[in-house]
Amino acid sequence: MQTILVATEKPFAKVAVDGIREIVKNAGFELKLLEKYTSREQLLEAVKDVEAIIFRSDIIDEQVIESAKKLKIAVRAGAGYDNIDLKAASAKGVVVMNTPGQNSNAVAELAFGMMIYINRNFYNGSSGVELRGKTLGIHAYGNIGRIVGMIAKGMGMDVYAHDPFVDKVIIENDGIKYVNDVKDLYRKCQYISVNLPANKETRESLNYDLLSLMPAGATLVNTARKEIVHEPSLLKLFAERKDFRYVTDVAPDCQEQIKAEAPNRYYATPKKMGAQTEEANVNAGLAAARQIVGFLTKGDKTFQVN
Ligand code: 3PG
Repeated sequence: MQTILVATEKPFAKVAVDGIREIVKNAGFELKLLEKYTSREQLLEAVKDVEAIIFRSDIIDEQVIESAKKLKIAVRAGAGYDNIDLKAASAKGVVVMNTPGQNSNAVAELAFGMMIYINRNFYNGSSGVELRGKTLGIHAYGNIGRIVGMIAKGMGMDVYAHDPFVDKVIIENDGIKYVNDVKDLYRKCQYISVNLPANKETRESLNYDLLSLMPAGATLVNTARKEIVHEPSLLKLFAERKDFRYVTDVAPDCQEQIKAEAPNRYYATPKKMGAQTEEANVNAGLAAARQIVGFLTKGDKTFQVN
């Protein structure tokens, strides 16, 4: 019998695991669970005898793929697949997929949670500021960006978006102002929600030249990846501009320095949790299980990324 491994250092909600189990069992496969693992060795051991893996932000590098001798498919239950070595997977004939859009709402909601949290001075009772009437720029108008836009409009924000891969008409049809030049987005917007994937084009692309363009009251909101921000630029901005604020679900390596410099202008979740809701876990986890079953039983390669 073929085995599907769920390898999640940060586990899904129980309701999602139950749903995955049902899909896997009904299709005649076996489910193996490796949750909250604490060492790489546990992962290397667990992958040895499985045909398929469902994973999240877990690092699936060349060594893991080498260790998974029977592996046919690995599905990232989520959007970003920068944590799996696609080259190594392809070299071994392993199909890699993601589950685009399935956890987007959870991530978008967290962006607003963090904006409100810092705007209300970490709920310390002192007078804060509102989002209504402020300018919000959406940097990358994919599944998350689109929901960020919908929520922002509902909150009465003035919403702009930039995405070189999305047609102007699509953005404008959503009632959002299209911005052709990314620099104009940063010039115009007090709040910027970054929804970029991490890849060689985007890595460290949020640098001093771009971030320093933001107007007074600049607040950068990063629910994407820490790698897309150039950290020396961040430190420079915090030191130079007493209005610059940063809220993030992906803490930078330099966060202790930022906290020392600007404790009231920075917030990071203790652990990446944008997609950590029951709904997102169910959506992404069950989609991953269904995609694996579809591939193993019918050769369906929809959502393959390698
Ligand atoms: C994603 O790429 O889907 C998000 O970053 C969620 O990551 P997570 O599954 O580790 O919560």
